[in-house]
Formats: sequence, structure tokens, C-alpha cells
Amino acid sequence: MKFGEELQVWYRQHKRDLPWRETKDAYKIWLSEIILQQTRVEQGLPYYERFVERFKNVVEFANAEEDDILHLWQGLGYYSRGRNMHKAARIVRDQYQGVFPVDYQTLITLPGIGEYTAAAISSFANDEAQAVLDGNVFRVLARYYGIETPINSTEGKKIFTAIAKENLDPKHPALYNQAIMDFGATHCKPKLPLCEFCMFRPSCYALSKGQVDQLPVKLKA
Ligand code: ADE
Repeated sequence: MKFGEELQVWYRQHKRDLPWRETKDAYKIWLSEIILQQTRVEQGLPYYERFVERFKNVVEFANAEEDDILHLWQGLGYYSRGRNMHKAARIVRDQYQGVFPVDYQTLITLPGIGEYTAAAISSFANDEAQAVLDGNVFRVLARYYGIETPINSTEGKKIFTAIAKENLDPKHPALYNQAIMDFGATHCKPKLPLCEFCMFRPSCYALSKGQVDQLPVKLKA
């Protein structure tokens, strides 16, 4: 079985039930992805619930005062995320007739949306074949393939992007992306990864070389 297929088998058994996975609504997916940018799932979940309850769609979000948004944001930190969301929502309201875009090229132009978030929203909401690269994905790929190039170097970005693209299942991009992120978050963890119970035991480069705790490599900023 190919790497991506193995991950999807794992995901079917182990996936976390999270509300933003039950929807194709790009607005809700966007909310979840921005909230989760620097926040753990357990901490972000109640915020997601409150935002969705208070603002049912992107136009309601855009019509709110910035202070209302920032008030609901309290406790999450990085307030620029909240401010950028408000700006993005107003652009969607005013330039896209209130319809949240789902294509990568449009998403990436909105404030607060970078490559990761554009790939996440376009694949989850619209099954666009975009591979996500976040900390979890870097870790899984670095260990499995034994990549020692720093993840935050120009060269590293190129290498990881190429591998991520190659692995992406074009028929099921959303499933593949969720699977690799969850695998990184709950199984191939930074500390105490579950190598003993891993289906990649026979093929994981880092495990075979005893390098699991040394990968991925990150340059000091
Ligand atoms: N972290 C960032 N995006 C996520 C998602 N869609 N599911 C779980 N954790 C995430």
C-alpha cells in the first residue's frame, strides 16, 4: 500500500471527531483553521463553537464591530488573527457577494490566509488537490523519509513541498490532508511518538536509524 493510503486506513480508525470536519462550509472551515493556527484543538474548540453560534455566516461576521470579534477572541492571543479575520470577512462581503471563496488562488489573497490555510480550506471545502504543510506534516515526512534538511530553510521548503505534492491523493485530498495532520498530532508526536504501534515500522527511515527524536531539523530563527 502507498504511504497516503496507509495513512487513510489509519485515519478511518483513529480520527478525532471535530465539528469542522462535519461541514463543507468554507466560512466555518476558515474559522477553525485561523483559530487553530497557534492554538491546540482542545483550547480552540470552545472558541470555534462560540464564533459559529454568534455569527452564522461570513456576512454576520463582517457586519460585527471589530471590538465584538476581539472580545470573543479574548484568551486566544495573537490578536492580529482576529483583526485579519474581520478584514477578510469584509472583503468577502463586499467583493465576493458574501460567498466565501473556496479556490486556493483567491483564498491566498485574503488577509491572514497564507499557503497552509489556503491549502486547508480549498481541500477541505472544495476537494481541490492542494497538499497542506504544517508542523505536523513536516514532522511525519521528515521522519518517514529521513529528511535532514531544515524545515524552515528555502531548500527544505522545496523538498517538503515536492514530497507533500507527490503523496497527495488527488481523488481524496481532504481525507489525505486530515489524515496526515491527525497522524502527526496524535501518533507521530514530537515527544513520545507511538512507534511501537506504528504501521510504518518496517518502512520508517528515522526509526530504522534511531533518529526519530532528531527529526525534523529546524534552524534557530
Ligand atoms: N489543526 C489545524 N487544522 C486542523 C484541523 N483541520 N483538524 C485538526 N487539527 C488542526
